[in-house]
Amino acid sequence: MNVQVYKDPAQIGKAVATLFAAQVVKNPDCILGMATGSTPLPTYGALVELYEQGVVDFSTVRSFNLDEYVGISRSHEQSYYRFMFDNLFSKINIKPENVQVPFPASENLEDDCAAYDAAIDAAGGVDLQILGIGHNGHIAFNEPASVFPFGTHIVDLTQSTIEANKRFFDSIDDVPRRAMTMGIGTIMKAREIVIVATGADKADAACAMINGPVDPQCPASVLQLHPAVTAFLDEASASRLG
Ligand code: F6R
Repeated sequence: MNVQVYKDPAQIGKAVATLFAAQVVKNPDCILGMATGSTPLPTYGALVELYEQGVVDFSTVRSFNLDEYVGISRSHEQSYYRFMFDNLFSKINIKPENVQVPFPASENLEDDCAAYDAAIDAAGGVDLQILGIGHNGHIAFNEPASVFPFGTHIVDLTQSTIEANKRFFDSIDDVPRRAMTMGIGTIMKAREIVIVATGADKADAACAMINGPVDPQCPASVLQLHPAVTAFLDEASASRLG
């Protein structure tokens, strides 16, 4: 795993946005893998700036998001679908029909999961995926477990993730308890992966991901086995690397 340490999240945002823009310039029909949460916001802000400067054109880009809550509508202000439009898609010229966010809404959620993996495969696979990391080492909603889950699937959120996400809801009772998420296998199929960790509260997770054993108890550690991963850390999240 290639590890790069930057001064602060804003500098990481610029660096990762430059990587994404370069990917689009090199291959205007590329498939981008998107994440939600606080971590990618500086990257999305910097990407919007590059778009406004005319550096990058998203008109033929397609994208797939990592995950979505079960049980809230797409228009809900905390849905990941809405997050992506509010923070990126509505500010660049990506076509709404070219973006996919998991939509766990049918009678049989397993069918939604299988259809999502099939859609990624049919599109040719993700060229460049951005990830954040949870305090417990989760990537997407793949929580610590005894095995690495393979395909897109439905998960019960752990108490630690519910606690971490309650800041976005009126109360902890409003945080959805389930989500649809790309599996570890789905994520590992991306041709190139960028994982970003910022803040002192991510230092333990970043250390376990980079220096720890490959262990499903730290789902992000699986990235050690991917041939093209770069971890972007700020000084605070890199503080335990030694
Ligand atoms: C979001 C996602 C999650 C977050 C992680 C970190 O699509 O898949 O794994 O990346 O929970 O969240 P933040 O960035 O809010 O600290």
